[in-house]
Amino acid sequence: MSKKKIIKPLSVGDKTIPPEGAKKIPVYIMGKEYLIPETLTILKAIEYAGYKYTRGCGCRGGICGACAVYYRIKGSYKLKSGLACQTVIEPDMILAQLPFFPVNRPDYKMDVFKEDAHAAFRKIYPEVFKCVGCGTCTRVCPMDIDVMDYIALMKRGELKKAAEKSFDCVMCGLCASRCPAQISQFMAAMLVRRINGRYLTPRAEHLKKRKKEVKSGKYEKFLKALRKLSQDELKKLYIEREREPDLSEPGWMPEDTTRL
Ligand code: SF4
Ligand code: SF4
Ligand code: FES
Repeated sequence: MSKKKIIKPLSVGDKTIPPEGAKKIPVYIMGKEYLIPETLTILKAIEYAGYKYTRGCGCRGGICGACAVYYRIKGSYKLKSGLACQTVIEPDMILAQLPFFPVNRPDYKMDVFKEDAHAAFRKIYPEVFKCVGCGTCTRVCPMDIDVMDYIALMKRGELKKAAEKSFDCVMCGLCASRCPAQISQFMAAMLVRRINGRYLTPRAEHLKKRKKEVKSGKYEKFLKALRKLSQDELKKLYIEREREPDLSEPGWMPEDTTRL
């Protein structure tokens, strides 16, 4: 006699209202089978099955990178990955979320990058120079970043270009989790962006002026006046403030420039 398939009973998470009549499909969470409305993302499916997030969930909008997930479709050898808040469930998905991925986070002071940034970078992240060019990092990146390419730019000392190429990284850790050379790509990329911001990008002249004004106490009287207002008065002021139009021309200025 064939054994009857047992579907675990569902408990409903408080974050999700599935559309009425949505078809339910089997998904495996923590090794157990659940029937979940097919329209949900992995993140919502996990909550729908009754689990509560204490880690591995942040913005819910594909920005914070907290929700990296690995999965296989039952019967397939292919290991897939993505962001749980952006990936919609599929039938027979066997999934495991990464609460975080342990990466190499060396201590460094930014001053060491002042003279020869590339040489100092090499000392901090020597493993970057062991990249074997397999391209796995680029294939798994949910942000479609050419990770292998920014690693190659780092190797060549083109740090500015590497910083720009890695700019959309959400620090999910998926690239590092698959790298055969054990490189923590996204951490190295963050260092390169720091170097770029500190030493390779020209200083903004208007920022220098603004710093001087702040130090001179120019804004103290405005701040004092704001501190005296009640919460309701502050809200009113905020709601009624002059806003920059969505499609403003470059150089747009508010009518009242007394506080600038
Ligand atoms: S570069 Fe790595 S850490 Fe950044 S988004 Fe892509 S896979 Fe995630
Ligand atoms: S996964 Fe690692 S070794 Fe492979 S290309 Fe990316 S950085 Fe290089
Ligand atoms: S929860 Fe922030 S990217 Fe998914």
